[in-house]
Amino acid sequence: MKMLLLGGTRFLGRHLARQALDAGHEVTLLHRGRSASGLFPDAEHRIADRDRDGEFAAALASGGWDAVIDTSAYLPRQVQAAAAALAGRVGQYQLVSSISVYASFDTAIVDEDTALQTLPDPTAQLVDGASYGGLKALCEAAAHEGFEDGCLVSRPGLLVGPFDPTGRFTWWLQRFQRAATDDADGSPVLAPGDPGAAVQFIDARDAAAWMLHQAEAGHRGVYNLSGPESPLTMGAFLETVRQALAPAARLLWVDEAFLLEQGVAPWSDLPLWLPAAQGGAHRVDITRALDTGLHCRPLAQTLRDTTAWADAAGAVGARPAVPGGPPRPPVGLAPAREAALQAAWLKR
Ligand SMILES: NC(=O)c1ccc[n+]([C@@H]2O[C@H](COP(=O)([O-])OP(=O)(O)OC[C@H]3O[C@@H](n4cnc5c(N)ncnc54)[C@H](OP(=O)(O)O)[C@@H]3O)[C@@H](O)[C@H]2O)c1
Repeated sequence: MKMLLLGGTRFLGRHLARQALDAGHEVTLLHRGRSASGLFPDAEHRIADRDRDGEFAAALASGGWDAVIDTSAYLPRQVQAAAAALAGRVGQYQLVSSISVYASFDTAIVDEDTALQTLPDPTAQLVDGASYGGLKALCEAAAHEGFEDGCLVSRPGLLVGPFDPTGRFTWWLQRFQRAATDDADGSPVLAPGDPGAAVQFIDARDAAAWMLHQAEAGHRGVYNLSGPESPLTMGAFLETVRQALAPAARLLWVDEAFLLEQGVAPWSDLPLWLPAAQGGAHRVDITRALDTGLHCRPLAQTLRDTTAWADAAGAVGARPAVPGGPPRPPVGLAPAREAALQAAWLKR
């Protein structure tokens, strides 16, 4: 197959490019040449900034592709520009959207028909935490309009694994590594909220494999895309990480009300943790993806590979801005703050 990746050099796209090349596909990558250099010499690289319409259209002026996977669209105008530039020259267009498109996670089941966010200002151009989901919903609408029935939309949950630039999942691995060294005196690891609360994430390599399969199969439609295949709880997740990285460490479960009262920010101060009211974001229905070939590798493998990558790369809780958005602070509680929270919890 001839495949075009709009992106392809950072995280999810990087795994997509690797897998597509390994499968023998002819791969073209469009990017600005900033995120990585020298990657994928076997692919064709078209260097352009998709925020500069003329430059983007010129870079795509020639060629045709069986499938396009767009990992780098955050604004509807970027999708419209892709549709205009590629008109009549692509088979399938896949937009990588997000479960953040959903208006609410209050409902018992969040499936692909759940209502989407709407933005007060649909012409917004700033991508930040408040606008990200609504803008992705508008990207989806632009994709359906621009590519009509040639369109597939995936809505990933939290993507994890090697090359993750967000540092979220990785923070927990590094927290337990620290417990195995610095906290050898027996200080516990703060475990947030309800150990029985559901938690969902997907190894970006499994997400990439599913996307590639959809390109090969020519499927259409809208799909939630997360894992694992069988429900996982926060307790089981932290216990698995503990056993893998710091078997002597203890967990100190601290309840949600206390953490919120202390100003601990869900998701960013303690990655993956969401208060019960938003817990539906970890209970998204992935039946449709499973029915179309999603396979999630064992958690132990993701832990092993992500730890090896982070150790080699020296990756820490980096939290790069969404393209076009403002800078954001690093993820994860600082050690001193976590120690203070633990002390306050035990003293209450
Ligand atoms: N991380 C998560 O947990 C999560 C969850 C749900 C959904 N998602 C979605 O999944 C996708 C993940 O993307 P990724 O970063 O992993 O993909 P990626 O394809 O590996 O990296 C982003 C690519 O886009 C290129 N790019 C960025 N801005 C560009 C521009 N203005 N013009 C041209 N190229 C540009 C970057 O290269 P250059 O910098 O060199 O241009 C890079 O190749 C995003 O759409 C995100 O919304 C992520």
